[in-house]
Amino acid sequence: MSELPRLGVNIDHIATLRQLRGTPYPDMLEAARACEVAGARQITVHLREDRRHIQDEDVKRLRAELEIPLNLEMAVADEIVRFAVRQKPDWACLVPEKRREVTTEGGLDLGRNRRKIATTIQKLQKAGVRVSLFIEPSLDAIKLSHELGADAVELHTGRYCLARQGAFGTRSANQASRELERIRKTALLAKKLGMGAHAGHGFDYENVRSVAELKDPNKMPLIEEYNIGHAIVCRAALVGLERAVREMISAISAP
Ligand code: PXP
Repeated sequence: MSELPRLGVNIDHIATLRQLRGTPYPDMLEAARACEVAGARQITVHLREDRRHIQDEDVKRLRAELEIPLNLEMAVADEIVRFAVRQKPDWACLVPEKRREVTTEGGLDLGRNRRKIATTIQKLQKAGVRVSLFIEPSLDAIKLSHELGADAVELHTGRYCLARQGAFGTRSANQASRELERIRKTALLAKKLGMGAHAGHGFDYENVRSVAELKDPNKMPLIEEYNIGHAIVCRAALVGLERAVREMISAISAP
């Protein structure tokens, strides 16, 4: 069991649906519990500075009620760091954040933000929070993450996933192979240096398979943890639609 990679389900877009209308539903805890029942080993949420989906109260409630670990994706911003130190999620994943982006674009610039990231890691670790750094799959970024004291790295797989989805036209297939090889090499180095090798961003039900086939020298899955959100929430909208319609028909048919 422990040899299988862990799935962390990112439930940001459950909150997106709620924020679109300002309704009290869908309930985040109910969503998290459904993921847990299905075998998720962690719940991941991104408390963005603009609070476009996850709210402070969501994090507090999940922290208080969840049975499985909570992974808080967060920018290296003073207000958010103070909040994380108070809430003490099991993991914090430090991510770069731009207000206008649709989703997290690219990994952390460790060179430029070195001091701030190092202090943030120390503050979080002192509070008992383990820290992963969301980085591009580059060997330099792995070495720097290790120097900065990260417990794990989360490899940004966005470029690989885009290539697999054909986003670079005729160059896509070659690009996907190159990106997969970068993921393999960087994850191997991360593990060699004693850090956890996590991966996330852009995965769908097809492109994740080639990454899941990567093995370490002991023939164990190379990537130990996946954090996946959008594809799961999209799939849930389809495979759960039938039951949702039946329940509404039952509601309007009440005597
Ligand atoms: N990991 C990190 C660090 C992220 O920023 C995101 C997007 O919020 C994810 C994983 C999940 O990405 P996706 O929704 O594309 O599966």
